[in-house]
Amino acid sequence: MNESSVPSVFIGASPEAAHSVTVTWVLVIGATLLFVLVMGLLAAALWRRRRGPGSASNGRGWLLAGLALPAVLLPVLAAWLVMNRAQVDPQHDARALVVSITARSWWWEVRYDNGGGAGEQAVLYTANEIHLPAGRPVTLSLTSADVIHSFWVPALGGKVDMLPGRVLHLRLRTVEAGRYRGQCAEFCGEQHARMALQVVVHEGDGFDRWKAQQSQPAQAPSTPLAQQGWQEFQQRRCGACHEVRGLGPSSRLGPDLTHVGSRSAIGAGTLRNDEQALRDWVTDVQRHKPGARMPSAPPGDPGTAALAHFLSQLQ
Ligand code: CUA
Repeated sequence: MNESSVPSVFIGASPEAAHSVTVTWVLVIGATLLFVLVMGLLAAALWRRRRGPGSASNGRGWLLAGLALPAVLLPVLAAWLVMNRAQVDPQHDARALVVSITARSWWWEVRYDNGGGAGEQAVLYTANEIHLPAGRPVTLSLTSADVIHSFWVPALGGKVDMLPGRVLHLRLRTVEAGRYRGQCAEFCGEQHARMALQVVVHEGDGFDRWKAQQSQPAQAPSTPLAQQGWQEFQQRRCGACHEVRGLGPSSRLGPDLTHVGSRSAIGAGTLRNDEQALRDWVTDVQRHKPGARMPSAPPGDPGTAALAHFLSQLQ
C-alpha cells in the first residue's frame, strides 16, 4: 500500500509512469554524458592549444570529434525514445474502466458511468477523489468547464491539459494499491494552488465495494442535530449549487455532497475532512479559499454547527 503524500514523478505506480521514469533517467544520463564528453573535448582542445600551436589537421580533428559525438548520440537517444513511446501512451482498450473528470475553478468533478446495471446508479458523481481498482486498464476522460486546467498525478502518469470544449484521454493501468496525490498543473486563477486531488487505488473488491456504497442515496438524517442541519441546508439554499442525492433538489454547480463525509479532504485538498473542519469551512470559506464560488456564512451564525454535523454524517 503506497501512502505517498508527496507527489513524486519517481514513484511510477502504473507501468506507464514507470516507463516515464525510465525514459527520464535514460535521457538525463544520456544528456549528461554527452555534455561531459563534449566539454571534455573542448577543454582538451583548449589545453593543447595553450601548450603551442598544433597542426591544422589536428584542430579539425577536435572539431569533427565534437560534432560526431552529438550527431551519433542524439539520434540514438531519439530513436530509443520513439521506440518506447508506445509504452508511455498505450492504445485504447475496450475493457478499460472509463472515469470522466471535469475540472472547475477550483475543484474536480468525477463521474462514473455505470450503464444503468441492475441496482446501480446509472451515473455516479463525486468530487476531488478518484477511486480506481488495482491492476485494471483505466481511461480518464479529461475536460474543463471553464478555463484551462491540467491534470497531473505524478505517480500515475504525465500531465494532460484540460480544455473547455475538448475531451483528452489519459490511459493507464494501475498496479499498486495506495493513495496518490495530484495537483492542477496549469495556472488557472486565484486558487490554482489549492486545486489538489486524491487518487485512491483499491486492492481486491475494494473498488466495487466503494462504488456500491457511493451509489446509495444519502441517508436521511436520523438524529435531531442532523435533522436541524438538513433544515439549515435547505434554508440556506445550499441545494442551489450542491447535490445530496435522494434528499432534495439538486444542482451540479458545486461538488456533489451525497457522501461528502467519506472523503479525506474538503475544498479540493484545502482542509482535512472532519466535523470541525466542515464547520470552519462553512463559516469562513472565503478565508480558507479566497475567491471560491461559495459565500461564507454570516458571522456568529448559530446554525453552522448543525449544518456541519449533517454534512459529516453523509458517509
Ligand atoms: Cu486548475 Cu490550476
